Amino acid sequence: MQITVQFTPAAELQADWLVLPLFEDEALTGRALEIDEALKGAISRLIQAGDIAGKANELTPLLSLTGLAARRLLILGLGKRDQIDGPAVITAAAAAARDITAKQVDRLALVLPDVVPPFTPETWALAFGVGLAQGSHGPGLRKTKAERFPAREYCLLAGPSMPAALVERGARRAAIEGTAVALAQELVNTPPCDLYPESFAERARQVAQASGIEINILDQHQLEAEHMGSLLGVARGSERPPRFVVLRHRRGGQRTLGLVGKGVTFDSGGLSLKTNEQMLDMKCDMAGAAAVLGAMQAIAALQIPVNVHGYLPLVENMPSGKALKLGDVVRARNGKTIEIHNTDAEGRLILADALAYAVDDKAGNLVDLATLTGACMVALGSEVAGVMGNNESWLQRVLSAAQRAGERAWPLPMFPLYGDMIKSKVADMKNTGGSRYGGAITAAKLLEEFVARVPWAHLDIAGPAWMEHESTGRDPGGTGCFVRTLVELAYDYAG
Ligand code: BES
Ligand code: MN
Ligand code: ZN
Repeated sequence: MQITVQFTPAAELQADWLVLPLFEDEALTGRALEIDEALKGAISRLIQAGDIAGKANELTPLLSLTGLAARRLLILGLGKRDQIDGPAVITAAAAAARDITAKQVDRLALVLPDVVPPFTPETWALAFGVGLAQGSHGPGLRKTKAERFPAREYCLLAGPSMPAALVERGARRAAIEGTAVALAQELVNTPPCDLYPESFAERARQVAQASGIEINILDQHQLEAEHMGSLLGVARGSERPPRFVVLRHRRGGQRTLGLVGKGVTFDSGGLSLKTNEQMLDMKCDMAGAAAVLGAMQAIAALQIPVNVHGYLPLVENMPSGKALKLGDVVRARNGKTIEIHNTDAEGRLILADALAYAVDDKAGNLVDLATLTGACMVALGSEVAGVMGNNESWLQRVLSAAQRAGERAWPLPMFPLYGDMIKSKVADMKNTGGSRYGGAITAAKLLEEFVARVPWAHLDIAGPAWMEHESTGRDPGGTGCFVRTLVELAYDYAG
């Protein structure tokens, strides 16, 4: 994806579509006034008549124009100025892109409105650019007749007084992060017949080689040699052998940030089989691994001077004669034993080994991302990630990275009483809390047993990783969530 920045007079900008964002109930100023004058007051008349209000994500196309070099104009509502934040900008820009990319276009341009604090020219361009990227693809990967057409070129029209270097830096980041988000979305949307542990690992190899990231892929024998009995337990039920991908971006400093992503390429539940309805979207259960791969791609492309390692445990959770049974006990890499009470609580089993591996691999700080529990969606709804961990200041750094990225995450408590709920009579722990109550936290409590003393944050992304229904600003299917939070965190980690 390519995003250029222009400073030309608005009327001279060549484009198939020019997107003009407007705040609600505000007089036209700056670029908007410039365009209105070129159109001999057409926009102010529409506002006067009440046809355009500027409400969030309101779209008003003007198809036949005289006075602009652009062929079509799309007026985009941003809502009230004092309510604008990262998610609002991204959603609005995505709404415009979704509308426009329903047809084939060459050049999609967007007018950057005057910067609203606390945004800077850089973060303003970044948010609008990422929104355009996010709204340009759609879930229809296997349609024989395409229904969405990413534009060949994207362009941001900056205000005359915006510093070029800052806007250009934001646009460059937007192109790289937008591409990484699209990669994660595409991986989540790929059907499970095509995306399984081996094919995911191969895709990771392509991405790594194209990006200059070191990669090591462990197969089943190597996983046995590495004592990853908990991951292997889950993998056993499937015809598809597991893989464990290790990605390394080594660009400086003593400390290493470790990113771990749950990669269950399909979650049937195993012998604790899900219902048809629960199983339908379970190709999304590798969204954590997709986010880590996307983030590694972006971190490498941005050449962030930092050490970041990515760990992707990849399995398929299936029922079979070889599958894990209830009452089975597995031994994880760090020697701890886990009694299986529900084979559908498989994510924590593969993450246990992956986290222990990352600890042995000398990660200085850890973040894991996982579509881990339905309980987290009960707690926070489907648009907000739950955040848990073992270190308050590390949690705050992760939460503020999410804030800067315009992604929603919220902390849940880790009181010791939740740890009591996963005690087993037979083994060191059991893989469920027994009741549904507190399910997001009992899952995190199990993970905590595998991070030793490393500062660790766990993001339960079961809700935000997947959109069941479309909305104006959002396609259904994979969302690519938290790729950009990880990029922000890598910048923070680089110091
Ligand atoms: N992958 C699911 C969690 C999930 C549910 C993700 C809905 C996205 C949408 C996970 O493996 C799972 O099945 N969790 C169980 C845990 C339970 C058996 C303790 C759940 O949430 O019901
Ligand atoms: Mn499951
Ligand atoms: Zn799962």
